[in-house]
Amino acid sequence: MTPASPLLVAHDLHKSYGSTPALDGASFSIHPGEVVAVLGPSGSGKSTLLHCLAGIVTPDSGTITYAGRELSAMSDAERSALRRSEFGFVFQFGQLVPELTCVENVALPLRLGGARRKDAERTALRWMERLEVDDLGAKRPGEVSGGQGQRVAIARALVSSPKVIFADEPTGALDSLNGERVMNLLTEAARSADVAVVLVTHEARVAAYSDRDVTVRDGRARDLEHAA
Ligand SMILES: Nc1ncnc2c1ncn2[C@@H]1O[C@H](COP(=O)(O)OP(=O)(O)O)[C@@H](O)[C@H]1O
Ligand SMILES: [Mg+2]
Repeated sequence: MTPASPLLVAHDLHKSYGSTPALDGASFSIHPGEVVAVLGPSGSGKSTLLHCLAGIVTPDSGTITYAGRELSAMSDAERSALRRSEFGFVFQFGQLVPELTCVENVALPLRLGGARRKDAERTALRWMERLEVDDLGAKRPGEVSGGQGQRVAIARALVSSPKVIFADEPTGALDSLNGERVMNLLTEAARSADVAVVLVTHEARVAAYSDRDVTVRDGRARDLEHAA
């Protein structure tokens, strides 16, 4: 693979839920380290596209290729392994484990991968510092604000050194000030680690954070020329 080739490519995806078409010929690509914003009205297929790209949902037709390998040619176990080792996820509501402290939450992907507690938590704290939440390590998710929780969730997504982060409305539940802060920290941290980001968002000023914008309408994705 040459440096110029895309990391993740989707071609002509179709996906229906019963008689409801969620994707209707959507194509998409992202390069290593690139931040691509996925925009579009509610119900247009953004989340379905993200779930297909991440190998969580299988499209009815069309192809998805990650680093030259077709997702549909992999076994379920291979796809899960790919999600664990190469992908990170951030959702609208952090989805942190309420019983664990923040540092335990961030360390969790490393612990599941077999890392020792001390090593995992040391790495976790490095990412929490990067996201400016290292002082919250001992707190539980119920004791921190929405914006802080999202920054903890972003640290957790980055902790296992993924190649791609999938973020679905990561600021959707935040006020605009906290939303901008989270967007800034997410994209800066990803850029510093050379992680690509598929960023589904309603954030109006998204062009300030993304390298490229894609709009989804009626299940079709269209690249916008980005004045970057
Ligand atoms: N699990 C599902 N079951 C049934 N319909 C779904 C499901 N997921 C999405 N849809 C439908 O597919 C369309 C696209 O949804 P979605 O991808 O969630 O859009 P967006 O994220 O842009 O709001 C919508 O009409 C939605 O109702
Ligand atoms: Mg959605």
